[in-house]
Amino acid sequence: MASAAAAGGVGRPSARSLGDVRRALLLWYAAHGRDLPWRRTKDPYAILVSEVMLQQTQVATVVPYYERFLAQFPNVETLAAATQDEVLKAWEGLGYYARARNLRRAAQVIVGEQGGVVPGSLKELLKLPGVGRNTAAAVVSIAFGRDEPVLDGNVTRVLCRLFGVEDDPTKAETKRALLELAGALIPRGQAGRSNQALMDLGATVCTGHDPKCPSCTLGRRCVAKRQGRVDELPQRRRKRAVPHVEVAAGLVWDRPRSSSGARLLITKRRPDDMLGGLWEFPGGKKEVGETLEECLARELKEELGIKVELEERFLTVRHAYSHFRVTLATFHCRHAAGEPEAIGCAEHRWVQPADLDRYAFPSADLRIIAALRDTAAAQAARSGVS
Ligand code: ADE
Repeated sequence: MASAAAAGGVGRPSARSLGDVRRALLLWYAAHGRDLPWRRTKDPYAILVSEVMLQQTQVATVVPYYERFLAQFPNVETLAAATQDEVLKAWEGLGYYARARNLRRAAQVIVGEQGGVVPGSLKELLKLPGVGRNTAAAVVSIAFGRDEPVLDGNVTRVLCRLFGVEDDPTKAETKRALLELAGALIPRGQAGRSNQALMDLGATVCTGHDPKCPSCTLGRRCVAKRQGRVDELPQRRRKRAVPHVEVAAGLVWDRPRSSSGARLLITKRRPDDMLGGLWEFPGGKKEVGETLEECLARELKEELGIKVELEERFLTVRHAYSHFRVTLATFHCRHAAGEPEAIGCAEHRWVQPADLDRYAFPSADLRIIAALRDTAAAQAARSGVS
């Protein structure tokens, strides 16, 4: 069958070449597919957890989180019964915390409305909070053997190069055509392996930077390779400039910080904010024309209705989120006036430094906590306390 121009500028490959690619992919996956913990189970709940973790995070980072998470919440009932704080703590450091909040809510829907059974259809899975098309397709194909294609970033890259797709893959029309191609690559009843083969090939061989074309099982069939255009495909959108925000946060002590029993003030972010439900050191964004010290005083007043005495500047950390970068400057300070009230936050609490581990913090705050520990340990060593 000749290639015909199809929707999205994507030509339809011949049945023979599709068949070749299908076979090559499955053979490659059998020999080189990664041995990952969620591939040793058919439990739809465990596979759902893995796929949600993999939404925005690389495999190597996910593995230890997945193992700990399943040890702590071994089935959908335990997850549904957990508090949000417990789930966020298990997710701490993995980022994109809406995933954790949604996964817990999804578990509650599954237990409350589906008798504790993870749905086996795309349509039903898509009704769960935080489950999009790729996650649903991955779960139904891997756990239920349904022939639904996945089209994530890795699969998109492989298909654009393999079939020489020049159109912008973020356009709906191109996506539709790529999804059709991904579907045509599934041998009947083998979508779990076929999808994961494409994902693995994209993650380990057909990579964004430095692709390993000489060792690619699809090398002979790859249009981009034949045309010497691997670096040009898929078409990339120009990256937008990443905004940078400066934030000041207070390490607010209730008494001299060297005294025994000294406690720090922490606040919980509001549920619908970014990092919602996580704890942090109170503070906020610096406004134009403000110093960091002025910013901190204003934020503590707005967020908690308190005044503090600034003592000394502590660590500054930089952190990159998906759409912006943050520089977080911290200051030791003493609580001076006003009973803290949760005005601009969900909750507040005074805690001893040793108890900070019980709360889930964003990565930037975790680095502050580690530095507080290091400083305290160094001081203890100097004064001969063990
Ligand atoms: N990315 C998302 N799901 C995946 C899976 N099941 N295997 C490898 N990479 C993935």
